[in-house]
Amino acid sequence: MPDTLPFATRFGSNAGQPVSRRDGVAKVTGTATFAADNHPEGMLHAVYVPATIARGRVTHLDVAAARAHPGVVEVITPANRPLLEGDPEAKHFMFAFRFEALQDDTVRYANQPIALVLAETLEAATEGARLLDPRYEAESPRVGLDGNTPYTVEVGAFGRRGQTVHGDVAAGHAAAVQSLDVTYETPAQYHNAMETHAVVAQWQGDQVTLDMPNQAIVMSRGAYGYYFGIPAENVLIRSPYLGGGFGSKAIPNGPTVLAILAARMTGRPVKLMLRRDQMFGPVGHRGATRQRLRIGIDAEGRMTVLDHESLATTSTFDDFVESAANASQGLYAAGALRSAHSGVRVDTGTPGPMRAPGEASGSAALECAMDEMAERAGLDPLEFRLRNYAETEPGTGLPYSSKALRECYLRGAERFGWAKRPLQPRQMRDEDGMLVGWGMGTALFHAPMFQAQARAVLRPDGTGLVETAAADMGQGAWTALAQIAADSLGLPLDKVEFRSGSSDLPDGGVAGGSGHTATAGGALHAAGRDAIDRLAQIATADPASPLFGAGNKGVTARDGRLFVTDDDSRSESYAEIIARAGGSEVIGTGSAARPPEQAAKHAMYSHGAVFAEVKVDPDLYQMRVTRLVGAFAAGRIINPKLAESQLMGGMIWGISFALHEEARFDARTGRIMNADFAGYHIPVNADVSGLEVITVHEDDPHVNALGIKGVGEIGIVGTVGAIGNAIWHATGHRIRRFPIRIEDLLRAERG
Ligand code: MOS
Repeated sequence: MPDTLPFATRFGSNAGQPVSRRDGVAKVTGTATFAADNHPEGMLHAVYVPATIARGRVTHLDVAAARAHPGVVEVITPANRPLLEGDPEAKHFMFAFRFEALQDDTVRYANQPIALVLAETLEAATEGARLLDPRYEAESPRVGLDGNTPYTVEVGAFGRRGQTVHGDVAAGHAAAVQSLDVTYETPAQYHNAMETHAVVAQWQGDQVTLDMPNQAIVMSRGAYGYYFGIPAENVLIRSPYLGGGFGSKAIPNGPTVLAILAARMTGRPVKLMLRRDQMFGPVGHRGATRQRLRIGIDAEGRMTVLDHESLATTSTFDDFVESAANASQGLYAAGALRSAHSGVRVDTGTPGPMRAPGEASGSAALECAMDEMAERAGLDPLEFRLRNYAETEPGTGLPYSSKALRECYLRGAERFGWAKRPLQPRQMRDEDGMLVGWGMGTALFHAPMFQAQARAVLRPDGTGLVETAAADMGQGAWTALAQIAADSLGLPLDKVEFRSGSSDLPDGGVAGGSGHTATAGGALHAAGRDAIDRLAQIATADPASPLFGAGNKGVTARDGRLFVTDDDSRSESYAEIIARAGGSEVIGTGSAARPPEQAAKHAMYSHGAVFAEVKVDPDLYQMRVTRLVGAFAAGRIINPKLAESQLMGGMIWGISFALHEEARFDARTGRIMNADFAGYHIPVNADVSGLEVITVHEDDPHVNALGIKGVGEIGIVGTVGAIGNAIWHATGHRIRRFPIRIEDLLRAERG
């Protein structure tokens, strides 16, 4: 049984290597099958009709016209929509959001589904949807941060505290010799993964198969089962590949439930794939924030108080509020700390988790405010941060499980050339006369673990099979998790088959919170160890094995053999051990989770420092990020190539957040005016240059058995502030609203 035998695997022969994506060739050659590539026999196409008002009710739909269109098979509206067994307004589990599945004729936001048309072809369904020609009774929409009366948030996103105070905030303000009081704004952003949400639903009796991109396969199985009154086991979710998720594909949503319902109603498989504009509404977004930061410092530049308030938009019918002010909780040593959240209910879809929820928006404001405070104190921004470096978690006094942030600062600064930075703004020009500015920001993201299970099999031929329902939304789970499994089984990577991406496998946990590698990887590691342990029990108890009696010294697994620890001359292959024992597979199981008592002992975060160079045209005020150097410490790095890619992806999102991305609402209609890639800007290759990632070595004995933190989200966190600060340094203008636009600088320039 596990841990009865001293036993070791050589962790690190596969893990730690920059292996290329195992799914890379399939993806670039087009053989990887995404959800919408499925076309089961007899499949109907579904198109949903999005509301074109943001508040009110639907008064008329021309169902007869739609039904009369050739190829249209069914039109589902609140008038004929079959009952769901589970209530779409219920919060039946922690990740449940309320949503619209045609329960009535109310419109709560633009792009909400108000009808679903099913047809033999996509073209017929599209035309049928157009023919419905909805009429409305519209009320005046509430949009934006001033759209409604704010309310105080006690419990924020995912149960995080809405109001946190450590120390005496009033005393901290009073003790300050210099103070800052600034307000920053961040916009609503929409996930816009390359692959839009899609589902192909097929019923067989009271069982349903869902081909869909999903970040939380096993959890979603239970959630969708709930709405249809069937047990989780009756729902099979297949999600081998996702074209991005960013948090949006972890949450059950209305359009998907409607497609599943349509398949049950018609008795035929149904495919629904959202159009790009339909992504702006029913599948989550990042709410807008307005954040007030008050900082006080003493004569030595040490913070006496860090007081962070955040107001964020949420929907009228659910409660997800961005935990932006919590970004100030884990990072800087301040005499007193306060994070306070309020919400404002507006007529939009409910916000949800979006890559680096909380921290992305919160640190954008925090890091710019830190820069403003440093400027006021006449301190270099890096020096100011070092003076306020937290050796234990501020407020709680908990030790960090590990924290190589100082190394991140120093290595990033050195690589960037930070020491040559003039303190004053508007001091640097390049050979073309462009204004050049340098800025920095600190990155922080919590290192959570969820729960997962895995199974590991040693086969009679000496190869391995491992199984866990993980999700690879592009981050590289197919590869990194297989590397972990291979090491835990003491096998080369090409001798390990990895089955994943399907809900009939052991629960791989959620691909979210930057915790997937730690969680699913932890379960795979435990399962591999268990299988090896069972194999070792067999060998050491068998007088015919060279390992017989090695129980006290222990065994080591590597390259498909068990060795007596410290005696390489005594070894045997897995295949030989299994053959003599009768030739049956050896099966191990494992699970991973962080016990609460372990979580209570340490503060656990990934850290980083990002340095940005921008160039700004002195006449046109066009801005370009010309260099970004990010140094990150995130525990053990399983695959440096993929981790670097994740961190770069986050940093590119940082560019996007700082300079491009923003959903614009029409105050008269409540509609999003730029719900497409022409108007909703994200960076293209020409916007990204000079990106460098440094990973700083970090051994973390406390975070989990393998010392893994996470790299999925932290890249955004320091980058936004670094770019905002670089723009100030180039121009002398503080723009306190993201994204920073040319017109903001022009206006500032004119005074
Ligand atoms: Mo995420 S926002 O943890 O997928």
